[in-house]
Amino acid sequence: MTDPLTELQQRRERAMQGGGEARVKQQHRHGKLTARERLALLLDEGTFQELGLLVTHRIHDFDMDRKRFAGDGVVTGYGKIKGRRVAVYAQDFTVLGGSFAEMHANKIVQVQKLALENGIPLIGLLDSGGARIQEGVRGLAGYGKMFTQNVLASGVIPQLSVMMGPCAGGSVYSPALTDFVIMVNDTSFMFLTGPEVIRTVTGEDVSFQDLGGAATHNAVSGVAHFAADNEQEALALVQRLLTYLPQNNLETPQRMPVGDPPERREVALNTLVPADENTPYNIKDVIRLVFDPGSFLEVQAAYAANAVVGFARLDGYTVGVVANQPNYLAGVLDIDSSDKIAGFIRFCDAFNIPVLTFVDTPGFMPGVHQEHGGVIRHGAKIIFAYSEATVPKISIVLRKAMGGAYIAMSSKEMRSDFAFAWPTAQIAVMGVDGAVQILYHRQLAQAENREEAERAFAEEYRKKFYNPYVVASIGLIDEVIEPQETRIKLVRALEVLRSKVQQNPSKKHGLVPL
Ligand code: HXC
Repeated sequence: MTDPLTELQQRRERAMQGGGEARVKQQHRHGKLTARERLALLLDEGTFQELGLLVTHRIHDFDMDRKRFAGDGVVTGYGKIKGRRVAVYAQDFTVLGGSFAEMHANKIVQVQKLALENGIPLIGLLDSGGARIQEGVRGLAGYGKMFTQNVLASGVIPQLSVMMGPCAGGSVYSPALTDFVIMVNDTSFMFLTGPEVIRTVTGEDVSFQDLGGAATHNAVSGVAHFAADNEQEALALVQRLLTYLPQNNLETPQRMPVGDPPERREVALNTLVPADENTPYNIKDVIRLVFDPGSFLEVQAAYAANAVVGFARLDGYTVGVVANQPNYLAGVLDIDSSDKIAGFIRFCDAFNIPVLTFVDTPGFMPGVHQEHGGVIRHGAKIIFAYSEATVPKISIVLRKAMGGAYIAMSSKEMRSDFAFAWPTAQIAVMGVDGAVQILYHRQLAQAENREEAERAFAEEYRKKFYNPYVVASIGLIDEVIEPQETRIKLVRALEVLRSKVQQNPSKKHGLVPL
């Protein structure tokens, strides 16, 4: 009879080997780490506490008795990242391709519940061939349980998914229900139906990466929020992202000052907006100069680049930054940028992160494609998100703020706390050329020199509407500020808003346009 302690040790050791040496080597050959190697990189040393190490499947058909591995293809438990508690799961591709099955699901659901009930972030490292075919509907039911937990935890704890290998079929919906999806370039992909099925059904020929690789989901579909060059970078990104977030929706993010003076003036901002109103500039230069150095972490950087969203710090406090990007499509709002902006605001609101909005947009994108694609419904999401959000909200109009886009982009009518404008702001129903043709069409028809008349009327329109002062005179802009004072003004505003309490009418839930 084996001594009990020796037996425990042997069982543990066997379980730690995953799918065995050959499979581990194969995993490494594919440029991928094992589940345990990943967790070792992600978590503070010595903090990982595993759960369910000895769990195995209970299928006997399909020769599955010979394919019984302790852990059932997923490593689950809890640990710490930079001293903060987190719950984690890491799928083990070396065991039956990390395929998702009944017991595998139960283990994940256990840490999901642990995370939710204790108010700690949940991090999933995914690497799976999807539903384990041998288990039939048991695996599918497991997915159902996992998705439900994702939904229950939504808005209560931050949920992060890191795609570190294949993610096919049902495996894509859990990440899609979480707050942030990080993909590893070249080695990860996500799709509902793979290239083979697509070829059969639609005749389209597409590679795994073109269909669902990191570049595709970051730039085209918007399913992913970040792309990392390798697994180490992806895990470091998780660690960094968490520093901006609270543990749960009842807490605020930790303050992390870096010694950047709150009263720092930035003279370069005074000349950053070009004198010619049609010359673009890079909004990220503004962000870089205003916030604590190096603190901006852009989210969905490659998707809908006409809008910029991300986390930054101001005097050490986490803020959510939303901005139009004049450098790309003149910062116009369209379907994709609306989704991007609205989703980010709602995340910030759920997790007590103030939203600061930099406005420079000519409005919503005209066009049949946009209208037929539902730009009305998508644009409405921005209005919904800003109006609903009860966190501190501050807007700064840098240049153009036209029509519906002015109202939508955190105007005071969206319950924003403060609205600032730079002297270069142009806040109006529409641009000069269009407005002149409509407002003065009679005078222009009779004018001896039409061009001269157009110039004169344009000047009049600019004076009457196309500036920040008219709006400031009716209180819709609280203060026209010198650009160099932007940081100071924001720091002071956030300080007074730190104790903001605002409540929405009691309801089961709102009906955000989807
Ligand atoms: C059972 C699986 C599996 C699965 C992989 N394996 N996926 N076993 N069920 N879903 C096994 C393989 O048979 C193999 O075992 C081992 O894992 C490694 O897989 P390989 O194919 O050798 O690896 P690789 O070449 O890297 O290819 C990875 C892959 C491929 C692209 C993911 O395995 C694949 O296409 N798998 C099937 C993907 C899929 O269609 N899944 C079902 C989705 S349907 P052996 O022992 O043979 O070496 C779904 C519906 C859910 O998920 C809906 C929920 C609502």
